[in-house]
Amino acid sequence: MSGAARHRPLGVVTRGTTNPNRLRRVDNWIVATCADRLLAAADPLVVDLGYGATPVTAVELRARLAAGVRPDVRLVGLEIDPARVAAATPAADPPGLTFARGGFELAGLRPVLVRAFNVLRQYDESEVPDAWRTMTAALAPGGVLVEGTCDELGRLASWLLIDADGPRTLTLAAKLTTLGSPAELAERLPKALIHRNVPGEPVHDLIRALDDAWQAAAPYATFGPRQRWLRAVTRLRETGWPILNGPTRWRQGELTLPWPPPST
Ligand SMILES: C[S@@+](CC[C@H](N)C(=O)[O-])C[C@H]1O[C@@H](n2cnc3c(N)ncnc32)[C@H](O)[C@@H]1O
Repeated sequence: MSGAARHRPLGVVTRGTTNPNRLRRVDNWIVATCADRLLAAADPLVVDLGYGATPVTAVELRARLAAGVRPDVRLVGLEIDPARVAAATPAADPPGLTFARGGFELAGLRPVLVRAFNVLRQYDESEVPDAWRTMTAALAPGGVLVEGTCDELGRLASWLLIDADGPRTLTLAAKLTTLGSPAELAERLPKALIHRNVPGEPVHDLIRALDDAWQAAAPYATFGPRQRWLRAVTRLRETGWPILNGPTRWRQGELTLPWPPPST
């Protein structure tokens, strides 16, 4: 098989909507929780898959990783649309930041970490498992995929951390000063979960429990939405949800838990 055939980009061109700073929540979480993997890697290669009409969020991820984890991180932005690769090329800053054509097969790269945001939401739910399998098969040993969805400005976001065995954790994150209720996060779940917000599914139980905890924490609103969120997350933990990562992350308007969750 020729190299070109081996690396035929897998996937389809979809809408390229993006925005500066839209992915700050997931980027900050990656810096805080995935740094060890990148620090341990002989080749700290990261792929931003499907960066969209402009490469701004790829540029930002590279800058955040270089400043927060290690300056020699290499980020490759992959896009399935050749016109978007051409449009991004002036923003390249090799060797730390480059752009290339590629799809779920990752163009023959072996990254330690892949961020694929707002990419699978435009696919059918039935295509998700194959896309995950293709991406995780291409990772360096011990590598991870961070796959998720957010709203246009990045005020509501959620993502799964996935390895070769499937999802490991789910994170929900929100800008607390504009959050009406955690139920709003249901519209921005990863593709694998967005159609599962129905009774009997763990993600439905989680969002309901978080919403109930948020309502119960209403008196804390006097001290600001951060205190209310902290109280709500603490209450979730007290009721048996195995929330990870501790108050430093929770204060950011995040919560992360093992996924799928052990029964609560
Ligand atoms: C909505 S944009 C997301 C841009 C950016 N990641 C963000 O969240 O702001 C989705 C992009 O993913 C690209 N895309 C879709 N499927 C892909 C695939 N299999 N491999 C690479 N890029 C893909 C589309 O061409 C599109 O530019």
